[in-house]
Amino acid sequence: MKPLNNKPKQHHNELLSASKLILAGLLLLLGLSLPAQHVTSNSCTENCHKRTVKKDILHGPTATDCTICHEPNGKAHPVEDVSAFTFFAEGAELCYSCHTEIAEQFSLKYVHKPAKNGECSECHEVHSSNDPKLVFTQAPDLCFFCHSDFDDNRATATSVHTASYTGEACLQCHSPHASTQRRLLVGNNRELCLSCHNKIIKKEDGALLANIEKHLSESTHEHRALGKTCTGCHSPHISELELLLKEAFTLGNYVEGIEDNFALCFQCHDTDLLNVETTTIGTEFRQGDRNLHYVHVNKVKGRNCTNCHDVHAANNSKLIAETVKFGRWDMPLNYIENDNGGTCATGCHKEQHYARE
Ligand code: HEC
Ligand code: HEC
Ligand code: HEC
Ligand code: HEC
Ligand code: HEC
Ligand code: HEC
Ligand code: HEC
Ligand code: HEC
Ligand code: HEC
Repeated sequence: MKPLNNKPKQHHNELLSASKLILAGLLLLLGLSLPAQHVTSNSCTENCHKRTVKKDILHGPTATDCTICHEPNGKAHPVEDVSAFTFFAEGAELCYSCHTEIAEQFSLKYVHKPAKNGECSECHEVHSSNDPKLVFTQAPDLCFFCHSDFDDNRATATSVHTASYTGEACLQCHSPHASTQRRLLVGNNRELCLSCHNKIIKKEDGALLANIEKHLSESTHEHRALGKTCTGCHSPHISELELLLKEAFTLGNYVEGIEDNFALCFQCHDTDLLNVETTTIGTEFRQGDRNLHYVHVNKVKGRNCTNCHDVHAANNSKLIAETVKFGRWDMPLNYIENDNGGTCATGCHKEQHYARE
């Protein structure tokens, strides 16, 4: 992919100004100059500025009248170089003077920095373009001009949300201009995710991803960590961790029971539930003051949190799953809670009770 310094626009500009200088020099040698007052599209493009109209799609006004934007100011052109013309308005104002409908968009709460700065021509070719909507190139490459980190780190990332880089790519979720939503999102963060994760997805490597939307809508208890977003835990783009996770969470049935392996959870939950052997306040999962989280998890071959909890949602309180994956077996937990504790009868052990008092 193209790094920032390959921005085609810059080449385009350099070429233009180079040819402009040469032509200006030639005209000077011949003692010619074009009187600025009579500049029309034809005289501009036929004599010198062929490149401005060279690409497939012409920007409306460029086809007929260059001076609608570049107002001659009386100086001779090209003898006195570009200062022979002045924009009749600066930055975005120039654009809004015709695109009145779009000016409204830019008054929304969140405006993309380059648009806010009136740098419309950082993304749009103001004269002619090979891409629809007069952009220099399509997303995601257009976005990589400035957000090159989204591209650079892809090859070495542990997980990539390929969906974010294909098709409409970034524009599936972001507006290039402005939005009523944080981060220029085109919709509610969570709804955006669920608009695709409403079916079982088969990944390129054949692995299947669960239908999250169905699971959430069929569960009575949802993890409060979800709320309005999925991105408390997952990155929508790339991650150094598996499953696009933002903080470490080791996958699998067995895991060494140390804090670092569950950093994701301990951003919000108290580590006492893992670390203290006896407690009457650190956790509700205890027999008297004996911490049963400690018993199950805090050892070299500890049981992962996901052996008992479903991190998204469940039909038991405390997100206790009905079944958990153990290889090819959907192992039932048969959890029943009561006021003072609960009961489990799982594939791991016969029916066991715990009582806090
Ligand atoms: C819709 C307004 C508009 C019209 C119409 C227009 N231009 Fe421009 N032109 C611009 C803007 C804006 C820039 C500055 C681009 C930038 O900042 O990258 C520019 C820059 C230029 C430049 C400086 C070199 C460059 O591209 O960076 C030249 C030369 C030029 N225009 C020639 C023309 C010619 C010739 C026409 C008619 C065929 C024309 N323009 C029509 C808006 C316009
Ligand atoms: C003098 C009037 C005028 C000015 C000034 C002007 N435009 Fe345009 N622009 C047009 C017209 C006319 C069209 C063609 C509209 C259509 O086909 O519906 C157009 C089309 C476009 C399109 C393509 C829209 C589409 O749906 O395909 C973009 C993008 C665009 N302009 C951006 C800009 C930007 C950025 C600026 C400021 C640098 C600008 N325009 C300044 C008149 C103008
Ligand atoms: C970060 C890149 C970027 C910047 C900056 C930017 N645009 Fe755009 N613009 C786009 C893209 C991409 C599209 C096409 C959107 C689509 O297809 O959904 C677009 C579409 C448009 C259109 C076509 C109508 C529409 O909404 O689809 C107009 C007009 C336009 N832009 C004008 C502007 C003006 C005026 C500015 C500056 C105030 C500006 N743009 C700044 C990337 C940009
Ligand atoms: C001309 C440079 C440029 C281009 C091209 C560009 N961006 Fe940006 N973008 C920025 C800058 C500058 C910021 C502000 C960064 C900051 O404040 O740290 C930004 C911020 C953002 C943000 C965060 C907004 C927020 O509220 O925090 C998003 C999302 C974004 N860009 C998406 C895109 C997408 C999608 C594209 C391609 C359609 C794109 N950008 C193309 C320069 C650019
Ligand atoms: C599936 C939806 C989705 C797609 C596709 C997507 N993003 Fe995002 N993006 C988001 C969400 C959601 C956030 C807010 C994340 C948060 O709040 O932690 C975000 C945040 C951002 C930010 C703000 C800084 C940050 O990292 O949080 C930038 C910049 C950004 N995206 C650029 C891009 C670019 C560039 C692309 C295309 C390569 C892209 N996004 C594709 C959903 C998406
Ligand atoms: C446009 C459809 C689409 C949207 C929107 C979307 N996804 Fe995905 N998601 C996919 C597809 C397809 C895959 C499997 C291939 C891949 O990695 O992209 C996937 C994979 C994933 C994975 C598993 C990654 C892995 O390494 O196995 C997670 C986690 C995920 N998405 C979370 C999210 C989140 C969070 C959001 C919202 C910010 C979101 N998705 C929005 C289509 C989408
Ligand atoms: C509290 C953190 C957290 C939140 C919030 C969260 N996830 Fe997850 N997600 C995880 C963890 C941890 C896993 C791995 C679970 C496992 O190994 O059983 C996972 C796994 C996934 C997977 C892979 C499922 C599979 O079958 O392998 C997808 C897809 C996914 N999440 C999407 C989402 C979506 C969409 C949302 C928002 C509705 C969301 N997640 C919210 C932590 C979270
Ligand atoms: C972004 C913050 C956040 C993250 C990250 C997070 N949680 Fe939560 N979790 C919460 C909140 C808030 C509650 C609701 C607590 C309450 O109601 O007292 C909750 C509740 C729970 C519950 C049920 C407790 C109850 O009172 O219903 C369990 C079990 C749980 N989380 C496990 C996990 C696991 C396992 C992880 C790591 C994969 C994790 N959480 C990551 C915020 C988070
Ligand atoms: C062996 C099964 C099991 C494992 C493994 C397990 N939990 Fe629990 N957890 C429970 C049970 C059962 C409860 C409900 C206790 C009650 O309220 O009766 C619970 C409750 C919770 C709560 C609610 C607050 C509390 O402590 O009572 C949180 C948060 C929680 N677990 C997080 C985790 C995290 C994080 C992990 C992994 C480090 C984990 N659990 C591993 C069974 C388990």
